[in-house]
Amino acid sequence: MNNVIQKNLSYKKYVIDSKLRYFKPHASKIEKTFAEEISTTLSNDPKFIAPKFFYDKKGSELFEKICGLPEYYPTMTEIQILKTVCGELNDYLDESFRLVELGSGASVKTRLILDAFFSLQKTTEYFPIDISEILTESSEMLLRDYDRLSITGIIDTYEGGLKFLRNYDDRKNLIVFLGSSFGNFSPSDGEDFLKTVNSTMKSGDLLLIGLDLVKDKQILESAYDDSIGVTAQFNLNVLSRINDELDADFDLSNFSHYSVYNDEHRRIEMYLKSLVRQSVIISKSNIRLDLEKDELIHTEYSHKYSLEQIRILLEGTGFRINRTWVDDQKYFSLTLASKF
Ligand code: AVI
Repeated sequence: MNNVIQKNLSYKKYVIDSKLRYFKPHASKIEKTFAEEISTTLSNDPKFIAPKFFYDKKGSELFEKICGLPEYYPTMTEIQILKTVCGELNDYLDESFRLVELGSGASVKTRLILDAFFSLQKTTEYFPIDISEILTESSEMLLRDYDRLSITGIIDTYEGGLKFLRNYDDRKNLIVFLGSSFGNFSPSDGEDFLKTVNSTMKSGDLLLIGLDLVKDKQILESAYDDSIGVTAQFNLNVLSRINDELDADFDLSNFSHYSVYNDEHRRIEMYLKSLVRQSVIISKSNIRLDLEKDELIHTEYSHKYSLEQIRILLEGTGFRINRTWVDDQKYFSLTLASKF
């Protein structure tokens, strides 16, 4: 980023060129640091590491690898459904829409949706919202490939970015939240999140949300414990991150990846299992962590939904469903909804 030219609300605007600009919160908000959060959640009973911490550079690369694994059906299934959706999206969009994505992608999925926009518009505006500055890299990649695109990126939390957008202008937005990332929220955080999304939408805006569906337990469990161990590496990598960034002494060989499908709560639960009785010092969090043999540190929920549950969830948070698409096997869903 090279050019700060103006303040907009409490955001700074960085103009890179005529097709690329970013907004970033002007003053850093008062948020807990990584060290503080880890100190709190690992002192909790049961111990917990929030899944947002998976995604350092290595963790993001491992997640990309997971998306290409044969056992991890969500990515390829969602892409397959998106091909149908994008052929039909024009029934719901007009030339005044822009594309807003929660998370920043240069991926096949973003490209499929952009192609649908290009068939309606001469130029398309893409608004990725992502807390990570990775957004700048993926935006540059997209601009290299599409000359009818302009990008306004918001480097902030999803909620912060959507509130910013609410006050930005009166253009209509198609907000997309793909990959069943919503499933990683706890149910109450998920509901709050959807209510916030809804409250930032104007009438006429649309939400396209990808959600993973309930299915055979074996298919679910192998998607989260693949045969070549990439998911295990992904899970364990959060401990390497804590070692590197918080000056800790986790010995990764003393932990294993454990994931299980919880039928009652309809979710995959991921844990790191302590293979021995051990103590770990996390210097920058100022804690000594004592773990029993077989004790579990919870790292992720990945909720799975029925179509009925999706309807109840969206209607209960202020949405009206326009259309739901699923694949032939009913593994995954994409739902288009508007503000009620
Ligand atoms: C990002 N999120 C939707 C993935 C999921 O399926 O819950 C994260 C993941 N965890 C293990 N494998 C993939």
